[in-house]
Amino acid sequence: MSELVLDAHWVEQLRRALLRWFDAHKRPTPWRDNPDPYRVWVSEVMLQQTQTATVIPYFERFLARFPTVQALAAAPLEEVLRYWEGLGYYARARNLHKAAQQIAQNGGQLPTTAEQLRKLPGIGAYTASAIASIAYGQPTPVVDGNVTRVLARLLWLKGDLKTTAAQKQLWQLSAQTIDPQRPGDFNQAMMELGSTICTPTQPRCSECPVSHLCAAYQRNQPTAVPEPSRRPPTRQRVDVSAMIMREGRFLLAQRAPEGLWGGLWEFPRATRQGRESLETVAARAAAQVGLHAEPVRILTQVKHAVTSSRIQLYGYLCTWQSGEAQSGEYVNLVWVAPAELAHYALSAPQRRLAHALTQHAQQQV
Ligand code: ADE
Repeated sequence: MSELVLDAHWVEQLRRALLRWFDAHKRPTPWRDNPDPYRVWVSEVMLQQTQTATVIPYFERFLARFPTVQALAAAPLEEVLRYWEGLGYYARARNLHKAAQQIAQNGGQLPTTAEQLRKLPGIGAYTASAIASIAYGQPTPVVDGNVTRVLARLLWLKGDLKTTAAQKQLWQLSAQTIDPQRPGDFNQAMMELGSTICTPTQPRCSECPVSHLCAAYQRNQPTAVPEPSRRPPTRQRVDVSAMIMREGRFLLAQRAPEGLWGGLWEFPRATRQGRESLETVAARAAAQVGLHAEPVRILTQVKHAVTSSRIQLYGYLCTWQSGEAQSGEYVNLVWVAPAELAHYALSAPQRRLAHALTQHAQQQV
């Protein structure tokens, strides 16, 4: 892919118009009020897969409990996950915790260059550059989904932008456009323009501060780029969690630290194979932890999505018949009373099962 060299005058106009817009319209957020490197880091990690409005209350609770790198490093992982509960993609929280421990062991200061930041767990090219520019004022470019869309439209970039060659070009373009005087604000302005004005399906071009510089707008085809990339079809699956009752308590199982939902607790779960009945899957979920349990009834169902799968999750109330719990693929097991469920870190869908169970338990007394 040929290297695009942008016109210096166009770049100058882009910087000026975008920063003026950002100064007038930027959303007030707690990390912008005080761009301390630790706060910027936490905010950027939370913002990786989650929208600003959702992040704000999580960020505030997290910073109130873990106000410094040292406080985060000293906290048990379980508690960090608890504060992350509902944000999803829990590897982010595990990496944040691990990186905080590395930083605390090395004097407690965050590294001050993008290159050094990248060596920390969970900090990739995007996050390293975002921190370097926002917290330290370095002219390091960023490319994320929002920046990709804005650049694609401004410059009429056709084709699949997920390819390695296209990504390389986007980083070069971002490096050419970034304002060396205000790199952190410029990067945030591009991201914010992408999330509030230059949105995927219905961009608000009439409110856009840079529409006069935009190739897609001039062609009257603002949504023709970026072109959708060819994705594998989403997989569908049905999971059943067995909510096994024994003497008023329920079995919770902790997942291994790696992978999806690593370290979180759940009601033992199994995935439906072929045309199995949900009852069979519930019994299998119980057998997996060494128990013979009788499926009684479905308490609730939750639909959710992870990466490229759509999951329908059923919470099946079961009664214990025989057997002693064995962890199998899980790392810990515990029998808990419904009132204690709040003390365990669960994924959002599992929390909904727990909620249904608590309500059910209240109706029984
Ligand atoms: N998305 C991710 N990080 C952001 C930031 N700092 N400002 C606006 N949008 C963002």
